[in-house]
Amino acid sequence: MRTPFIVGNWKMNLDSAGAVALAKGVAEKSAGNSKARVGVCPPFPYLAGVKSALSGSSVQLGSQNIYFEAKGAFTGEVSAAMALDVGCQFTLIGHSERRLILGETDAVINKKVNTALAAGLHVILCIGETLEQRQQNNTEAVVESQLQGSLAGITLDPSKITLAYEPVWAIGTGVVATPEQAEAVHHFIRQWLTRTYSQDVSQATCIQYGGSVNPGNAKTLLSQPNVDGLLVGGASLKADDFAAIVAAA
Ligand code: PGA
Repeated sequence: MRTPFIVGNWKMNLDSAGAVALAKGVAEKSAGNSKARVGVCPPFPYLAGVKSALSGSSVQLGSQNIYFEAKGAFTGEVSAAMALDVGCQFTLIGHSERRLILGETDAVINKKVNTALAAGLHVILCIGETLEQRQQNNTEAVVESQLQGSLAGITLDPSKITLAYEPVWAIGTGVVATPEQAEAVHHFIRQWLTRTYSQDVSQATCIQYGGSVNPGNAKTLLSQPNVDGLLVGGASLKADDFAAIVAAA
């Protein structure tokens, strides 16, 4: 019942020609896969060009972030309406790089989720623990508090919000979570959704895994009962690798 959702997070990589070429490659190579939803998140300056490159394909366009204010004197920020205006259907919010490098708190992330939903963007909300937090056995507590803080006051509609569990220690490190480690946290998140919302909401919510996903590990991760999709960084920068990951779904 949960359609796999595979998303490429291009982060701060590529140039305009490279972004367009990659988008065309993704559109071509993932065409014909009717079993998965596929999306890409280019850097802001390349969104419009990638949108054109994706025209006629079912690959969805997402932004990597948005700001929580609607408009005005916020130098360097991009609003949800602007992301929509250049063709985004969804946005990432609360990626660990934004939490840890740019200091985003759950309170800020909560405002961004509200703003994005109000504007009509689908939200992929990222959560996940650091290595230190895992070693101190705090994974579940951290994930729960991020969910509580980021989703405070929000009625979760599974058609509008996807969750992405991304353990920080697995991002960009080549150290992927084992399928068992991923499944354990995804199961915990599913239970939290049931407790906080309802069985229906919980069962319908797509929970992606992210962190060193590659063509070699995608299938085993996706075969876990509560892993419904993947958020892919490094391996999404090569159309062939990303297509192989989509094919695993
Ligand atoms: P990675 O990044 O696949 O390069 O580990 C994942 C992410 O940060 O979304």
